[in-house]
Formats: sequence, structure tokens, C-alpha cells
Amino acid sequence: MTEAEGERLQKVLARIGFGSRRTNEDLIAEGRVTVNGEVAILGARVKPGEDEIAVDGAILSTLPDTITYLLNKPRGVVTTAADTHGRPTVIEIVPDEPRVFPVGRLDLDTEGLLLLTNDGGLAHRLTHPSFGIDKEYLVHVEGNPSRASVRQLRDGIELDDGMTAPAKASTVAPGLIKITIHEGRNRQVRRMCDAIGHPVRRLVRTRIGPITDTRLEPGQFRLVEGNELLDLQRAVKSTATGDDDDADVDADASAANDISNEID
Ligand code: URA
Repeated sequence: MTEAEGERLQKVLARIGFGSRRTNEDLIAEGRVTVNGEVAILGARVKPGEDEIAVDGAILSTLPDTITYLLNKPRGVVTTAADTHGRPTVIEIVPDEPRVFPVGRLDLDTEGLLLLTNDGGLAHRLTHPSFGIDKEYLVHVEGNPSRASVRQLRDGIELDDGMTAPAKASTVAPGLIKITIHEGRNRQVRRMCDAIGHPVRRLVRTRIGPITDTRLEPGQFRLVEGNELLDLQRAVKSTATGDDDDADVDADASAANDISNEID
């Protein structure tokens, strides 16, 4: 890339919330910023949206027009873009433009936090199991699971698509469990609870990685921006499994959308 091409790295970092240009110069001088995997030098020019820029290994969204919402999904609303049965969709709750798509999926009857974005790279990293982002659920179940049953949820449960990974699970009150998983299998929490003999009565997602919000009412949404967005991007930095098929889908909104439909 010639000197005149692209935008100055310091300016791009400042625009997306990494403090002043001076602070950014320090970050670059300390070797904490990479561009396409190479440690960046002061004065480097980059193409936002084309070059992959990372701070401390966390890949950043650098396109100026990306947008991410946090929605508290009500029960009875579907997580697909359009529903063949005419049921209300999460897409109808947020503004039409710019067009966003749901990150992953919550069942029709599941409530709680759902991200919607037009940032294909971020969506991919949030849904890809190799990034292992935590999702926390409050689960009202039938009956009152014993300590041994809750331990089973923690240790792993044999489901028809294989063993679940170790999870966090604890009893909050009789019949109320908090479960944190980092897999995204179809109806996973419901199937885990069925397997221990305590079917789910109500399921609410209360946290996605660092993102939580106890004040957002069902049906309300808000922007995810500033430090919160940076925290999210940091949370999905590669866990370096070597299983990197990012190149195929990065920045490709429709591919990320396919992922969300796949988990349907
Ligand atoms: N697990 C489920 O069973 N359902 C959801 O909607 C999310 C996680």
C-alpha cells in the first residue's frame, strides 16, 4: 500500500474508541497493535474493513457504519429475519436501516439478551465455538433439582448429538438454576434440563460474554458502543485453536446470518 492509501492507524483507533491519538501512538509503540497479523508501526496506513486490525489480539470492527444492538427478546418472538408462519420477528423490533441480523438464536419461547449486528466478522466470532463466548441463562425448571443433578449439568451431559462441554451451574432458589455455557447447540439448555429430569418452564438469557443489562425491559433494545463494544470485541479474541476458517466468512454478513439460521 502506498503512503497516500488508506487511513492513518492512529486515527482509525481513535475513531473506534481507543482514546486519543496520543494514547494510540503509545499502544502502537508498545507493539500491542497488529495489522493483518503483523505488529504495526507508527504511521502505518490501513484500509478499514479490509485490513484486520487487532489490539492485544482482539480483532476490532473498523468499518465506520457497523452497528450492534442489544435486545431483550420477549417470549413468542422468532429470531429469524422472516417467519413463514407470520409470527413477530426480532428484526421487526429494531430499526430497518441499516439492516442488521441476529447473532445466533434464541428459541421462540426463550427470553432475554440477543445481539443484532451488521458486522459479519463480529457475528462470526460470537457464534463460532472456537471463540467460546460464555452465555448465561436463568432457568426455571419443573421440580427442585438435587445437588447431584446440578453437578451433572456442570460435568457434562450425554445428549443425542454428543456430550456437552463442562458448564457452570448453580442453584439460585428452589427450581431456579443459573447455567453458563459456551456452546451454541440447538435447544441445548432445554435438552440438558430434560436429561436430568427437570424440564424447563422458563428460560431467560441474562449475559453474553461481558454484556449484561438488568434494566432493559422485554421488547426494548439499545446500542452497544464505546467501551462495552470494545469489551465484547476483546471477549471474542481468538482462542488460537488453529481452526481458523475466518478468512472465508469474515466481514460477510450473509455468511454469519447462515450460521444463525443453521442453529435454528
Ligand atoms: N438453550 C436453549 O435450550 N434455548 C435457547 O433459546 C438458548 C439456549
